[in-house]
Amino acid sequence: MDESKIYKTILELTERLILKRKSQEKFIPGVTRIGYAGRVYDQYEVMNAVRASLDFWLTEGPYARLLEANFRNYYKSKSFILVNSGSSANLLMVSSLISKNVKNSLKKGDEVITPATTFPTTLTPIIQCGLRPVFVDIEIDTLNINPNKIESAITKNTKALFIPHTLGNPCDMELIMKIVNKYNLFLLEDSCDALGGTYDGQLVGTFGGMASHSFYPAHQMTMGEGGGIIINSPQFVKIVRSLRDWGRDCWCEPGKNNTCRKRFDGSWGGDLPIGYDHKYVYSELGYNLKITDLQAAIGLAQFDKLPSFVEKRQKNFLQLYEGLKQFQEYVLLPRWSTKANPSWFGFPITLAKGLDRSKFTIFLESKGIETRMIFAGNILRQPGFTHIDKRISGSLKQTDSAMERSFFIGVYPGITNEMINYMIDQIGKFLRTKI
Ligand SMILES: Cc1ncc(COP(=O)(O)O)c(C=O)c1O
Repeated sequence: MDESKIYKTILELTERLILKRKSQEKFIPGVTRIGYAGRVYDQYEVMNAVRASLDFWLTEGPYARLLEANFRNYYKSKSFILVNSGSSANLLMVSSLISKNVKNSLKKGDEVITPATTFPTTLTPIIQCGLRPVFVDIEIDTLNINPNKIESAITKNTKALFIPHTLGNPCDMELIMKIVNKYNLFLLEDSCDALGGTYDGQLVGTFGGMASHSFYPAHQMTMGEGGGIIINSPQFVKIVRSLRDWGRDCWCEPGKNNTCRKRFDGSWGGDLPIGYDHKYVYSELGYNLKITDLQAAIGLAQFDKLPSFVEKRQKNFLQLYEGLKQFQEYVLLPRWSTKANPSWFGFPITLAKGLDRSKFTIFLESKGIETRMIFAGNILRQPGFTHIDKRISGSLKQTDSAMERSFFIGVYPGITNEMINYMIDQIGKFLRTKI
């Protein structure tokens, strides 16, 4: 068999194998687990992974370039930079704010406003970069930062706002942008849960100077591990890429040389000898947070399915919402802005006072329905965070309520109508015994 025939046969067999596996999947109520999230894929992702393996480029390469271009077009952003996780995306965004190469860069002790109900790696970069988090309460029914409490948290030291769109529910961007513009704050969006959602017709992730994505399997699309940064503010394009790539000054694509055309005769600042190889010039305090081309190849196949994934999440969410309305006396259902079209990550449920959340989640888990907390809850009550330098603005009453009474269940596209009906039935069974 010649080489091209072998290649074709490998791909054909891969396709057959995945189709065969998929045809055997079925839902058995009470036995099949209904995940809070999960990978949804078919033969195309696996065939792309096989293609990338056979190319054996390994490091970030042609597939990554294509995927970055797709996202740039999708967001009409200045740049889109792939990284190895959503956490890395958050770390790079905050690190870039303190880069000496940024105009009005943030300095040690400058304050960043953020909600106390959060994901750990939304907060940790603020601390790791020597900035001071200022915590504001959330709204219990959106689980997002309370926009009406932001302004009173602002002092002369406030320089930035870092807001997650919790579980895919867009924050009140109208009010937030008014505050950002009035006080000239730098806005970072953690859009890890919100890919594909809009506020007032504008894609979430395009409001701030930068925004992050995660491509961990729980998210709207996946490549196993992975993340990305939407860059809307041009001054950060080179800095973020440099921070991702060891802090190097050189901007050559992998495998390329001398893009700057003065690799061996440039003058690059610092105390470097003239003509020091540009490939080894470091203008940032960087990391290495790149992805592999294998991940990007899988991401490309997922990207094509993004609109259908988002739509199915929305359908599942609405089916759950309609089914659970009858229990509103016992559970607080989520609220979203009339201007928002959320790309839901999960379905949050907050129990009325007096109902026992642990009993409820243990019951649901025993019926095969996975549950999750609202990430870290009130993160200041987490063992790793009790000691951090911080300021709390006002009370964190709703944050504590979410930690004590809220959780979420899945809406991901692998959940079928039949599964949703089963989930509503089981939730009803538990609540009826309490009524
Ligand atoms: C809001 C939010 N930010 C950041 C992250 C971190 O993403 P990753 O798991 O890719 O590091 C997550 C992960 O689920 C998240 O939900």
